[in-house]
Amino acid sequence: MSQALWFASRATGLVALLLLSLSLVLGIAGAARYATARWPRFTLAELHRNVSLMTVLFLAVHVSTAIIDPYPGIAWIDAVLPFVSTYHPFWLGSGAVALDLLAAVVVSSLIRTKITLKTWRVVHWAGYACWPISLVHGLGIGGRDSSLGWVISVNVICAVAVVAALVWRLGLAAHPDQQTRRAAASAGR
Ligand code: HEM
Repeated sequence: MSQALWFASRATGLVALLLLSLSLVLGIAGAARYATARWPRFTLAELHRNVSLMTVLFLAVHVSTAIIDPYPGIAWIDAVLPFVSTYHPFWLGSGAVALDLLAAVVVSSLIRTKITLKTWRVVHWAGYACWPISLVHGLGIGGRDSSLGWVISVNVICAVAVVAALVWRLGLAAHPDQQTRRAAASAGR
């Protein structure tokens, strides 16, 4: 039973990382106003939302199975309060930091109409920090299994996709309405 939970936790952790990376790529494309006839902006935005939701679902299973598994002795508090766990305190703590950051992004999006665009955007930027922290968490806590070829491939695919999207966004994606959006953001609308 414990081994099944352990496998479930690892598998859902890797799927969550893939989904989180995809969500980030879609978010970056949306922020850069990417659109084609086949991929209009609302489709991209909807996909970004749904992939983010799936990330949260897989993370819920990832964290629950890690806690229910009696072997590592992880408590619920260890999943939200960083660096208090006795099981790999640093690597598990980085997972807790990533989870807290993601929770802030999700909650701010749920109350989006009740806060200013500026506040929402600042919190949403936490999404960027969540990604490298969860990458480090997975590689660190995975131990020997992190060096398996296919596990490395998953991590490399995620890293290449996100870095490529960022480079594209920073270099090529300057859009004519960028100034207007910045002005609107600083006006707090
Ligand atoms: C955004 C948040 C998180 C992401 C994306 C994530 C992702 C991952 C990934 C990719 C792995 C490595 C799987 C493998 O190499 O086979 C992993 C392992 C693990 N994660 Fe997370 N994780 C997150 C948060 C958490 C939290 C909050 C906990 C606390 C319960 C946690 C507990 C674990 C444990 C215990 C393992 C190792 C399983 C083992 O080897 O026994 N993770 N995670």
